[in-house]
Amino acid sequence: MAKDPIRVLVTGAAGQIGYALVPMIARGIMLGADQPVILHMLDIPPAAEALNGVKMELVDAAFPLLKGVVATTDVVEACTGVNVAVMVGGFPRKEGMERKDVMTKNVSIYKSQASALEKHAAANCKVLVVANPANTNALILKEFAPSIPENNITCLTRLDHNRALGQISERLNVQVSDVKNAIIWGNHSSTQYPDVNHATVKTPAGEKPVRELVADDEWLNAEFITTVQQRGAAIIKARKFSSALSAASSACDHIRDWVLGTPEGTWVSMGVYSDGSYNVPSGLIYSFPVTCKNGEWSIVQGLSIDEFSRKKLDLTAQELSEEKALAYSCLS
Ligand code: NAD
Ligand code: LMR
Repeated sequence: MAKDPIRVLVTGAAGQIGYALVPMIARGIMLGADQPVILHMLDIPPAAEALNGVKMELVDAAFPLLKGVVATTDVVEACTGVNVAVMVGGFPRKEGMERKDVMTKNVSIYKSQASALEKHAAANCKVLVVANPANTNALILKEFAPSIPENNITCLTRLDHNRALGQISERLNVQVSDVKNAIIWGNHSSTQYPDVNHATVKTPAGEKPVRELVADDEWLNAEFITTVQQRGAAIIKARKFSSALSAASSACDHIRDWVLGTPEGTWVSMGVYSDGSYNVPSGLIYSFPVTCKNGEWSIVQGLSIDEFSRKKLDLTAQELSEEKALAYSCLS
């Protein structure tokens, strides 16, 4: 029997990530090849004509799974009945700008959209915040939508996770699909800690630790980390726009694994509300290693954290605490 459609909201749908993301959702990349979807696309009035153009293209592409499109500048109409909300709308960082520069504009958007989601989305709506500062926007959304369960509000660090897998795959000249269990700890910013201490590669002789195969701790503890931390800035420098196709693809990975589950023995990185695991202060949206089952994520427990890693986990937590304080000062 055909499944009922799932309503997926994409805010900022006329922007560059939106343009890459909506066809992926309509093709079943986010929710599965047998899952019909109804797309809700929100943007602001100056982008209304472009948004309508995206709607026209979705019709023209004749996606079999796409059962309807709502393209609107009305936040209530956009949020009504949605089961999944991918929050991309906001002001992107341009070359030379720090993420904090975009904070003031974006946190006030997330405060107001929190209320709309709380009042009008379907019960148990899963929320993924992509727009930067992603962790802090997600935290603001959580704080101003108190009736949405806190576990339903997450932010995107899967792009950083995928970047880490990509760097290891290039370095070892192995398939990226054979590399797993990297971890992004903390903020989606240059203080994030890409950690491969527990990552492995599938080889003909079984799974081997990344550290053993790379056999170059100096590279892993320095250049690898900064390359992943700075990848967003490198893309902006090269393209003059921030990453779009990789962000859209990673957003699909994030929701797909959350809804459909992570493969046995594999974890992924998600920005989630900290419960104090790994001595990360609670009250932050912090990226942890998680597994997902039956639509719920849980933080992978019991991983060893060496002294080098501990400092990096604390540094990125410190930045998030400062961002939280700054966000509240922007809202007051
Ligand atoms: P973009 O400027 O191309 O698109 C943003 C869209 O949001 C625009 O169409 C704009 O009109 C719209 N918008 C602005 N205010 C809005 C509001 N109040 N409601 C609805 N829509 C609104 O930017 P982009 O390149 O698509 O990037 C979007 C965001 O994603 C940026 O904040 C960027 O920094 C962030 N980003 C995050 C990651 C990540 O891994 N977390 C990766 C890449 C980009
Ligand atoms: C990215 O990681 O590509 C984006 O978040 C761009 C940015 O603002 O760093």
